[in-house]
Amino acid sequence: MRAVRLTELGGPEKLHVADVPKPEAGPGQIVVRVKRAAFNRRDVFITQNLYPGISLPRTLGSDACGVVDSIGEGVQGCAVGAPVVINPELGWAGDGPLPDTSGDILGMPTDGTFAEFVVVPAANVYAKPAALSDDEAAAIPLAGLTAYRATFTRGKITKDDVVFIPGVGSGVQTFVLAYAKHVGARTVVTSGSDEKLERAKALGADVAINYNTDADWHKTARKAAGGAGPTLVVDSSGGDTLTKSIDIVAPGGRVVIYGGTRGDAKVRPFSIFWKHIDVLGTSMGSPSDFAAMLKLFETGVKPAIDRVFPMDDVVSAAERVLAGDQFGKVVLAIGE
Ligand SMILES: NC(=O)c1ccc[n+]([C@@H]2O[C@H](COP(=O)([O-])OP(=O)(O)OC[C@H]3O[C@@H](n4cnc5c(N)ncnc54)[C@H](OP(=O)(O)O)[C@@H]3O)[C@@H](O)[C@H]2O)c1
Repeated sequence: MRAVRLTELGGPEKLHVADVPKPEAGPGQIVVRVKRAAFNRRDVFITQNLYPGISLPRTLGSDACGVVDSIGEGVQGCAVGAPVVINPELGWAGDGPLPDTSGDILGMPTDGTFAEFVVVPAANVYAKPAALSDDEAAAIPLAGLTAYRATFTRGKITKDDVVFIPGVGSGVQTFVLAYAKHVGARTVVTSGSDEKLERAKALGADVAINYNTDADWHKTARKAAGGAGPTLVVDSSGGDTLTKSIDIVAPGGRVVIYGGTRGDAKVRPFSIFWKHIDVLGTSMGSPSDFAAMLKLFETGVKPAIDRVFPMDDVVSAAERVLAGDQFGKVVLAIGE
């Protein structure tokens, strides 16, 4: 089969398509024929040696939608040819409050979805939401799950929240926006580009601020939120963005963090204790988060697709993610 392989580190240009053996379904496993896959920032971080536990050579990719190709011994309730999506969280087998210590995610340390076929535990295979196209379904697993847990399970969003979403162009943040609109909360978003802000507004963002042209974007965001500021912040930028987000959240508010694209942040203890705010960490999600997340996509919620690239153009796709030019998810067309 054809697969996108990473055999040496050095950035997106090291990704290349090669022939590798098709995987077989062992006991308790399913082989999925991949139709569409999608990029996450982690795939690019891995090519740059900015991710823990890298082992090469490897087929990258955590997200996929496709059809069941073959079923291993002992697997029940699953038919060959059924349209499916894959939960890439391999280290959260039970439904406890935290994953196991492996932190394993499909695509590293195991071979992932940028391939014509991928083998996964049967428990990680779910029916594709019927309302979604293949491109849309491939876009949701890792980012949609992370956003779900951040927004609902950890952030405990309600319709009365004013949600601040910095860097709304990120794949995960576009899901946070979609979920916040779904529950009817007010949203204030930032981005570095007017084009992305227009797209966010078209998806329902109430206030859109360009952090490149408004040096006081955090003050603008607090004012626009009304009251004493946003009541819920969901952030993956880190750096100065996180520092300022903590500064502007309303007393009693929540700041949920799942990433740090801009690096480490200085935190002012005063901003946290004086305002009695909750700072909450989160990563990926549990099997029940994944199942609950999928249900949202049966009710009209849609992922934001940036572009679809052919598999052979994988380097251009990865470079687009590296540059941070995308709004939403970058999808790879693998098969039909
Ligand atoms: N813990 C978890 O489970 C988990 C899961 C998924 C992702 N993450 C982390 O969350 C972050 C976002 O992931 P993602 O896959 O959504 O990212 P992504 O799709 O690659 O989006 C990156 C976006 O971040 C914004 N950005 C802000 N500062 C940036 C910078 N210095 N360089 C590049 N982009 C910058 C840009 O949007 P604007 O132009 O709109 O600002 C850009 O479009 C990453 O750090 C990722 O590792 C963590």
